[in-house]
Amino acid sequence: MKKIEVILPHHRYAIHVTQGDLSPLADYLKSHWSDYRLIVLTNARVKRHCLPSVSRALGRKGLKLETILIPDGEVYKNQKTVNLVYQKLFQLKADRKTLLLLLGGGVVGDLGGFVAATFLRGLPYVQLPTTVVAQVDSSIGGKVGIDHEKGKNLIGAFYQPVAVFSDVHWLQSLSGRQLRAGLAEVVKYGVIWEPAILEYLECYVKDILQARPVRMQWLVEQSSAIKSQVVQIDEKESGLRMILNFGHTLGHGIEKLMDYKRWLHGEAVAAGMVYAARLSCRRGYCRKEILERLTKILELLQLPTTLPAFAKKRYLHTMVFDKKRRGKRLNFVCVRRMGHVFTHPLTPSEILREIQ
Ligand SMILES: NC(=O)c1ccc[n+]([C@@H]2O[C@H](COP(=O)([O-])OP(=O)(O)OC[C@H]3O[C@@H](n4cnc5c(N)ncnc54)[C@H](O)[C@@H]3O)[C@@H](O)[C@H]2O)c1
Ligand SMILES: [Zn+2]
Repeated sequence: MKKIEVILPHHRYAIHVTQGDLSPLADYLKSHWSDYRLIVLTNARVKRHCLPSVSRALGRKGLKLETILIPDGEVYKNQKTVNLVYQKLFQLKADRKTLLLLLGGGVVGDLGGFVAATFLRGLPYVQLPTTVVAQVDSSIGGKVGIDHEKGKNLIGAFYQPVAVFSDVHWLQSLSGRQLRAGLAEVVKYGVIWEPAILEYLECYVKDILQARPVRMQWLVEQSSAIKSQVVQIDEKESGLRMILNFGHTLGHGIEKLMDYKRWLHGEAVAAGMVYAARLSCRRGYCRKEILERLTKILELLQLPTTLPAFAKKRYLHTMVFDKKRRGKRLNFVCVRRMGHVFTHPLTPSEILREIQ
């Protein structure tokens, strides 16, 4: 098991990456939270695949769990579901000596973290991420929140967990498509920070597409360490944390244009990263080998590498309403070489120049 520390000015916590061994989680709960109620928030699918292993490990230490289920899917990451969870917590007579365990993907983690931030002005919570996206990204950094009819992730807070336990065995029940979409974020870490990740993906792609635990452990450890370093330097996303948006400006645009239905987030980010690399090449920031290698890796992972064919003016429209916009320009993440990116302020039409 590897332990990665996240050290912030007012709070610190550890990310534990395990491989089918949940005794570190049980030990942690027993030693730090034995006088707390333990309530798991999850959905029916994750309950079926992942909760039995958690219950067994905790049971061995004499720890009891209560469960709250939420419906599965991004469409339920909203205030209505939050209210439902508040109600269940009141029914269970949860008080401030309650620890929430968020078992699931980014939806459970984001929504559960938002409940934790707000219920009785704040309950402690542990992230137990069960998707690649959640293990390498959403469980780390304390960005919690829900969607609003005006847009995704518009209501939220920064509220850090007390610990994160990522068990890579959980990833084995993920659909191939969810696994691959999550790997797009892993590719992103390779491009923005650590090129060794790209070599590893190229070398072990077959194992990785089968979620072989030994390979996933290495990837989750590397990615978690990068995310935690970025968050440590810039907790509230005022500077460095923006590099995590590599591929996301166009990625978010694609998702919006598809009404969040056809492509998964990671698939849209994959196409967005290729676009960002192409733009970087055209502007003379990087060599074309960078674009070619990135495209090849994403193809190996069976991810999209070209933008879906929406009219340029529709892309423009989504970008004009981007919430990360600063004035007339967007901080677009460009690539210099593998492991080195930088932000550059560009207007939406400068960004979209690559589209015919
Ligand atoms: N807070 C952040 O910093 C941050 C970062 C990235 C993404 N996000 C958010 O994360 C969400 C996306 O997360 P996601 O991709 O994990 O989606 P998700 O939570 O919807 O999970 C995807 C699907 O996989 C299922 N699933 C989860 N674990 C499983 C397992 N082990 N076996 C089988 N099925 C399993 C889920 O039930 C769901 O149907 C979005 O809402 C996004 O906004 C947040
Ligand atoms: Zn993302």
